[in-house]
Amino acid sequence: MLIVKTIEELQTAKKMLSGSIGFIPTMGALHHGHLSLIRKAREENEHLIVSIFVNPTQFLEGEDLEAYPRKDEADIKICELAKVDILFMPTSAVMYEEDELCIGAPAVRGYVLEGAKRPGHFDGMLQVVMKLLNVSGATHAYFGKKDAQQLALITQMTKNYFMDVHIIPCEIVRDDRGLALSSRNVYLKEDERERALCLSRALKKATKMVMSGELSVEKITKMMSEELRDADEVEYIAIVNREFQALETVEIGNTIILVAAWVGKPRLIDNLWI
Ligand code: PAF
Repeated sequence: MLIVKTIEELQTAKKMLSGSIGFIPTMGALHHGHLSLIRKAREENEHLIVSIFVNPTQFLEGEDLEAYPRKDEADIKICELAKVDILFMPTSAVMYEEDELCIGAPAVRGYVLEGAKRPGHFDGMLQVVMKLLNVSGATHAYFGKKDAQQLALITQMTKNYFMDVHIIPCEIVRDDRGLALSSRNVYLKEDERERALCLSRALKKATKMVMSGELSVEKITKMMSEELRDADEVEYIAIVNREFQALETVEIGNTIILVAAWVGKPRLIDNLWI
């Protein structure tokens, strides 16, 4: 595995590649969720590039940029074992210059739910993903469905900017008790880990309600808010269509149920695609 840290090194390394390039951008602290993306990309492409970059522009003032878990040594080993061809590990100075041209999240889809709670987050996320997709030369880029809105906005960006890359959505990976994997789960203390299960439990119960024919958004939301009482603070429970527009009735095949809640230190998100 080749580890590169500059744009020039990556561009030189990329010139040696022909055929499809699978790419997974990450912020490191790799877990089984990342690994499932890496494995899928490995199977489906001739070459595999992973990036590790904790992108400062997508963190808001007061968020956990400084404290964000960094595990470079372990991450390098994981990538080696997963047969990554090129690992790109730039610094902020490599990725950004002063007074940059910026792209922004769309005014509606980019400013509901996560975009409303974290205004500016998606601008920074799209900015770095655009850069990483361009410099990696990815033909196929893999993103988890856990960050449902992120996935939707990246897909929209590649469409709106006529970018020649396939965005591949990947299933949420959970631990054996149902907790959706996230790098921020390391912040959870023992009892919080237990309480954090209320997110996936609420979503599971929502599935059961839908499967038994209950499609009322009001009733499902009420059940979920009761189920989520183990969280310290629920930021939102949302039942939307794939365009992130609020629904009154669940539309089978076109609905996402999302939740964001604080449990101890981390803010957790989870969702279910129906
Ligand atoms: O999902 C993430 O880890 C980040 O938002 C991403 C896509 C790597 C961009 O920094």
